[in-house]
Amino acid sequence: MQKERTAGQAPGPAGQYALITGASEGLGRAFAEECAYLGMNLILVALSSSGLAEVAQDVARRYHVRVEHVEMDLTQPEGPEALVRWISGSGLPVSVLINNAGVGYNSRFEDSTLRDNESCILLNNLALVKITHLMLPELKRRQHAYILNVSSMAAFFPMPFMPVYGPSKAFVLNFSLALRAEMRGTPVNVSVLCPNGIRTNAACRHKIDAHGLVGRLVSMDPQPVARCAMEALLAERPVIVLGWINRALVALGQYVPTRLICSVVSAFYGKTAKPAANAVTGASAQALGG
Ligand SMILES: NC(=O)c1ccc[n+]([C@@H]2O[C@H](COP(=O)([O-])OP(=O)(O)OC[C@H]3O[C@@H](n4cnc5c(N)ncnc54)[C@H](OP(=O)(O)O)[C@@H]3O)[C@@H](O)[C@H]2O)c1
Repeated sequence: MQKERTAGQAPGPAGQYALITGASEGLGRAFAEECAYLGMNLILVALSSSGLAEVAQDVARRYHVRVEHVEMDLTQPEGPEALVRWISGSGLPVSVLINNAGVGYNSRFEDSTLRDNESCILLNNLALVKITHLMLPELKRRQHAYILNVSSMAAFFPMPFMPVYGPSKAFVLNFSLALRAEMRGTPVNVSVLCPNGIRTNAACRHKIDAHGLVGRLVSMDPQPVARCAMEALLAERPVIVLGWINRALVALGQYVPTRLICSVVSAFYGKTAKPAANAVTGASAQALGG
């Protein structure tokens, strides 16, 4: 039976903010709605011309919370620094940081461009590390604060045909666990979300369908992912893997020979791999590796 949900359970005193990156669409937008549902004010970040202003207006109107939005490219040098400077200057008290923005490509490494690889590392890793580092002093001032880093099931496996995305998410997983240990005894809880496929957009749904029954069994819609992830974050769970099939895959992965894992992942992701010119975002990560 589903647990009854109660609106307005924001972490910390009323008036505090959740900072969410990559919030114009997909999982980030779902996080924005979920945090607003819980009564949090929001600072939303995404690229410019992404419809972020409309998302901010819509969420503010429907949930009666304050929503600020910042349009910027977090892969630009000084992007994360400028974001945190703006937050400090505005004096908005942030008690939740959700590092959600992420990209990747589904192709052979040799078909990717240097830019594909650079974007993946800059956004998934460098921007996340910088924002976390710069926001920590602010978060430590709160009575309770939360960091949720969005990784992927891909963090647990070698990922042929997503050869840089997978390791970038393994970095997020291990970084989060290390920071969690260091933050013990402080007001800051760190959790890491490792989802499998999420039906975030048309391209992603197409890929989940291409993976057949397995794709459908292991994937989820963005809103339930955000809801379960927020429940787990507020319960201070370290690693959040959703659904028993995905938890079983992670457990099984420890015992299955790497060669077999690579064959299975290749079968799934080789099928959907595109040449670099048509490479797609992190949204396309799904089925076995997310
Ligand atoms: N979808 C999946 O199957 C899946 C599975 C496992 C993990 N994940 C992870 O979940 C997270 C969200 O995925 P998603 O599917 O919701 O992605 P998405 O639909 O592609 O949305 C990505 C968000 O990040 C923003 N963004 C992209 N590049 C940016 C940049 N350089 N600077 C600032 N913002 C940027 C996008 O803004 P624009 O709208 O302006 O582009 C958008 O708001 C990612 O970290 C992804 O790796 C996804």
